[in-house]
Amino acid sequence: MIDAMNYWWEVDGIREDLTDPLTSSSEIVQDYLADSRVVKAFNHMGYHDLEDGAQRPGTRGRKAIAIAGDDPDGLATVARIVDAVGLDPVMAGPLAEGIRMEPGTGPFGASVGAEELRAMLLRFPGSGRGKSVRIARTW
Ligand SMILES: NC(=O)c1ccc[n+]([C@@H]2O[C@H](COP(=O)([O-])OP(=O)(O)OC[C@H]3O[C@@H](n4cnc5c(N)ncnc54)[C@H](OP(=O)(O)O)[C@@H]3O)[C@@H](O)[C@H]2O)c1
Repeated sequence: MIDAMNYWWEVDGIREDLTDPLTSSSEIVQDYLADSRVVKAFNHMGYHDLEDGAQRPGTRGRKAIAIAGDDPDGLATVARIVDAVGLDPVMAGPLAEGIRMEPGTGPFGASVGAEELRAMLLRFPGSGRGKSVRIARTW
């Protein structure tokens, strides 16, 4: 199951159960769909960029999509889907690392290439979401 969702308070209302810094939205989805293999992908890029940015593999400036998941087969399948729709897949780690592309992080809203996306994922601790997660998880 590809989780392309985000919690967005302007649309979804104030939901503290969906912003708990001790977990991530995709882990909540995985808990809810216990029999599914959840992979987070396609959440951080706007639909217009997804549609307009598609390019053949190896094209200079090809845009990238970050992928997070715990199941190796699921990750491989979703990576093939990302490539097939014209974008470079970037592995972000286990499903819990999907927090690195939630709203309040660098990748969220970004339409960039694989190298820049990897750098953004690494800068998560300095993002707004990263700081609130660090404070909550060190208490
Ligand atoms: N738009 C983007 O560029 C983009 C990009 C990446 C990720 N996302 C994420 O994708 C998700 C959907 O975004 P969207 O732009 O497609 O939003 P949207 O156009 O508002 O569509 C939301 C859909 O969810 C349905 N829905 C809402 N509440 C529901 C409920 N309680 N039970 C069942 N269905 C419900 C709505 O059904 P009704 O029409 O019947 O109300 C609608 O079909 C969000 O989490 C968003 O963050 C969006």
